[in-house]
Order: sequence, then C-alpha cells, then structure tokens
Amino acid sequence: MAATRSGTAEAAVSWLAEHEREGIERLVEWLRIPSVSTDPAYRGEVRRAAEWAAEHLRASGLHAELHPTGDTSADPAGTGHPIVFAQTPSARSGSGPHILFYGHYDVQPADPLELWESPPFEPTIRPAQGGVGEVGERVVARGAVDDKGQVATFLEAVRAWSEASGTPAGGARITVLLEGEEESGSVNLERYLEQRAELFRGCDVCVISDTGMLGRGRPAITYGVRGLAYTEVVLHGPDQDLHSGMWGGKAPNPISELVKVLAQLWDADRRVTIPGFYEGVPEVEPGERSAWEALGVDEAEALRKIGLPPEASVGEAGYSFTEREWARPTAEINGIVGGYTGKGAKTVIPSHASAKVSFRLVGDQDPARIAKSFFDFCNARTPPGCRWTFIDHGGGHAATVATDSPLLRKAAEALRAASGAEPALIKTGGSIPVAGLLKQRLGLETIFMGFGLDDDRVHSPNEKFELDCFRLGARAHALFIGELVGGA
Ligand code: BES
Ligand code: MN
Ligand code: MN
Repeated sequence: MAATRSGTAEAAVSWLAEHEREGIERLVEWLRIPSVSTDPAYRGEVRRAAEWAAEHLRASGLHAELHPTGDTSADPAGTGHPIVFAQTPSARSGSGPHILFYGHYDVQPADPLELWESPPFEPTIRPAQGGVGEVGERVVARGAVDDKGQVATFLEAVRAWSEASGTPAGGARITVLLEGEEESGSVNLERYLEQRAELFRGCDVCVISDTGMLGRGRPAITYGVRGLAYTEVVLHGPDQDLHSGMWGGKAPNPISELVKVLAQLWDADRRVTIPGFYEGVPEVEPGERSAWEALGVDEAEALRKIGLPPEASVGEAGYSFTEREWARPTAEINGIVGGYTGKGAKTVIPSHASAKVSFRLVGDQDPARIAKSFFDFCNARTPPGCRWTFIDHGGGHAATVATDSPLLRKAAEALRAASGAEPALIKTGGSIPVAGLLKQRLGLETIFMGFGLDDDRVHSPNEKFELDCFRLGARAHALFIGELVGGA
C-alpha cells in the first residue's frame, strides 16, 4: 500500500477541525433540499439532493455519477429515484482494502408540519436544551440524523483526506452508493444490485452510518438490524356505509370485526400467534445475553424520556427490555382507519376498514413468507359475509454481521481513537434493508458505525443531529480511512 499512501490521518483530522464551519454549512445546504422520496411531488428535489452529493464527491476528486433506477424503458432517467454512485480512482486499480460506503439521501415526509419549532427544510443550529448530559449545539431539520447528517460525516472525512493529502481520499479504495429510496421501502434496490453486481464485486465490506450510539459519549458499532415485513389489510363488509341504528346488531361492522381479528395477533405472553411465525428465529445466545446486560441500559430512564412510567415496560414474556428490541420479532399495528374520524359525532357503520400492520423480523424470517402467513391468519378468521384485500408493501431481511473481521476491528479502533471511549457492540431494532441484500446478493458483510442518539427524534418533528456527534462521525471516518490507506 505504500505506493498509494499519501498524507496522514493527523493532517486530515486537523483539516476537519479547521474547516468545521464550512462542513456544517455544507450539510445545512443539503438539508435545505426536501428530498422526500415517498411523495411524487418532490421528485425534482430528490434528484437535486442526489446531484448535490455527487458534486460534493467530485470536489473531493472522486468519479461520481447518478444511476437511474426502476423502469428505464419509458424514461431514461428511470421511474425510481437515482442512486449516487462514486469511486476513488484507486478503487478500480489499486490493492488493499476496498470499502463500500452506503447511505441514503432521501428523507421521511416532514408531517405533521405544525409540530415543528422551525420549518423542517430551513435547518437551524440551536443550543442543546440543557437536559441531563446535554451540551453543545445541534442542527434541527428533516434528515439531520437520518441520514444526510450521518452521510455528511463521511463526505467531510473524504474531503479532508483529499484536501490534506492532495490525493482523492488519500488513496483509499472507496466505492460510494447513496440511495434515494430507503425511506420508501428500497423498492428498486434489489434489481439495481442485481443488474450492477460487477460494480461492487471488488468491495471487501460495506460501511453504513445510519444507526445510533449507546448514548452521549458512548460510541457504538451496531452488529445487527432487524428485518421488516410491511403489510396493509382491508376488510370489506356491506357495499355502502350504513346507519348504525338501523344496522348495528344485524350485520358485520368492518371496523369492529377487523380489530377483533387483529387483537388475536398476540397471546397473553405477548407472543405473536401467527402459525410458523417463530420459524428461523434463533434463541438469544447466553454470551449475548450477559454482554447486553453489562451495557447497563437504563430501562426506566429510556421510558421516562418518552413520557412513560417504569411499569410501561411491556413486551414478549421472558425477554429483557433490550432483548425485545434487538433479538425478538414483533408485530405492530402502524395505522388503522375506518368510518367517521371527523369532528363531532356521526352514527355510521362503514363499508370497510383497513390497517397497516408490520412485523420486525430476526434471524432467517423471510418478509414475503411472514406477510403471506399473516394474510393466511386473516383468511382463517374472515368474519361472516366479509372479504379481505391484502397488500404486501415489502420490507427486508434482518442482518447480523460478523464482529470478528479485521475491518470491523479497524473501524472500532478508529471510533475508539476518535472518541477516547471504548465502542460498545450493540444491535438495533430498526431496519436497513440494504445490509441483508448485500449479504445475500454479494456475500458482503456490513459495518454499522452510527452516530445518532435516542432522542434525535428520527422520523418525527424537530429531528436533530448533535454537532458533537457530527464531529465525532467525521473524525471516526477520517481515522478509518487512515486505517485503509495505512495498509491492511
Ligand atoms: N435509519 C433508519 C433505521 C434505524 C432507525 C436504525 C433507528 C437504527 C435506529 C432507516 O432510515 C429506517 O427508517 N428504516 C425503516 C425501514 C425502511 C424499510 C422503511 C425502519 O426501520 O422502519
Ligand atoms: Mn436511515
Ligand atoms: Mn429512516
């Protein structure tokens, strides 16, 4: 590696410190672009956010382009949102470790708008509110932590190396894939990876900054994400809405019938009752159980922060608070709609009712199989005279990654050096579909090195990213790049 090595990690880290304000300004500029992937009205803005990232990478000396996704037969730009694909010159020719950095530049919708203290796409830098352990400033905007702010920690680290060494990313072998559809289900990603598999063949590991830390000052490497199966069920009854006085007690009420079926999803131990649901679910290993216990997660404090008393810690019997998030599958009703929901009273029996029901998955649980089993479960309980329609919105597999790989050790080393603290090994209950796909399609392991905090309000109004976390992320990535160019 000596031939491609140029500059030093110290120079890159100094550059970061000296150009910190510009880095934050760059992030603010990116956050101004409302790249909401799920809403077609933002299509142009999503593309603009992709171009912004490509431009940033080009300024660091990488070759960057936008790849269309989805159907390109009608429109060469594709029906999907573009993928930002970039590489350092040495990615194709050099030798030594080659990392694939994945992130997403799309964001969740900003609703409900009225709950934002400042407009979601007018980023503001605000002082921390002065709660326990809260110091410093944060940037408040949709996408601040999920995931533009976290991607920006990497973009800034790459830029620092390019600037400090005069060689793109200091000669590190890096491929970048930024997705524009993560928040809308990654619907075109599998096909993209299938069609462009050769582009990623040479990569040794994927690095993702889209998860969290264990807490303030407690950096972490995440070694597992849960999978997801997202469904929608509609229960149809009469072919018209009815007067509840005339029809209540004579014919099925689709809302009442739907909630009775859904209430059967859990038994008294809060285990999911769908036949076969737990197939492919591994037991929590004793080693993990004790390691997680040793992390000292403060259950009561976590509940308190969301306005709940300690007795609100409910979930599958026999598993701890942390185990229930990191290692157990769950069923959740995410939305339920039917009948009259306007102001005042209206006595009505609606013709139909619907629910969005999702499942977090672990181990080998297959999203398509789980959705199908849920639909079978509903079919087996069809209320008399009613019928169902089912929609499978897709999802992704759970992914657990090796914790003993040399590159993960290097990432942990970089994180340790950047933070001065020992990184914890954690899992998360959230889902990042690309990790499962990369493992399945390309045999690629992932390192989740994330910088979010539990109170960042991910997907909620007033989403924020602590500038301390931004700095830590940029430093950690810079030091990790240092490990790559330093030879492996
Ligand atoms: N970054 C999140 C996943 C995440 C959330 C990881 C919290 C760790 C902690 C990601 O952008 C996300 O929101 N994923 C979705 C799944 C997707 C298929 C819509 C999720 O987990 O609900
Ligand atoms: Mn994310
Ligand atoms: Mn998200």
